[in-house]
Amino acid sequence: MGWPDVEMRELISRDRLQARISELGAQITEDYRGRELVLICVLKGSFLFTADLSRRIELPIEIDFLGVSSYGDSTSSSGVVQITSDLTHPIGGKEVLLVEDIVDTGLTMTYLLENLQTRRPNSVRICTLLYKNIEKNHHLTIDYCGFEIPPEFVVGYGLDYMQKYRNLDYIGVLTNPTP
Ligand code: IMP
Ligand code: MG
Repeated sequence: MGWPDVEMRELISRDRLQARISELGAQITEDYRGRELVLICVLKGSFLFTADLSRRIELPIEIDFLGVSSYGDSTSSSGVVQITSDLTHPIGGKEVLLVEDIVDTGLTMTYLLENLQTRRPNSVRICTLLYKNIEKNHHLTIDYCGFEIPPEFVVGYGLDYMQKYRNLDYIGVLTNPTP
């Protein structure tokens, strides 16, 4: 059996991902020097992005994890955001950077921004690897963005289709998603 086991078109190669993540890490290092930064990895989709980005930030950062489910096992939004697993440490007075795999409708980030603000951090910003449907999200400020992509359903490098294909080291488009 070949790998991947479905028809896949590469959209962003491993090398392009890593090069851009290095740039983001350098920028974040400059911006947060001397401040108490907490990276919040939005699970599950951003586990690989957070792992790579954090190693490109040359500061004594904290890393915490927030489990969020905004989609059922489908390729369209359910419109419901749920925290499935909360942070383990308080963020009061700290600089928070939400690390997300992809912003689509912006619903997840809007909900998380509001939720985290109630915990009185000093600041909350968003770093997303991918940004889809930019025209739908004019109300949302994205502070750091890896790549703008067309409105296609993508998988790989943390992103899943029915919980699979997170372990690809590039971003691809499923050309024939229905089994
Ligand atoms: P939003 O709330 O519509 O912005 O959706 C954000 C969440 O939906 C992301 O954190 C992803 O987990 C998921 N998502 C959106 N688009 C895709 C995609 O193309 N592939 C895989 N997951 C996606
Ligand atoms: Mg996500």
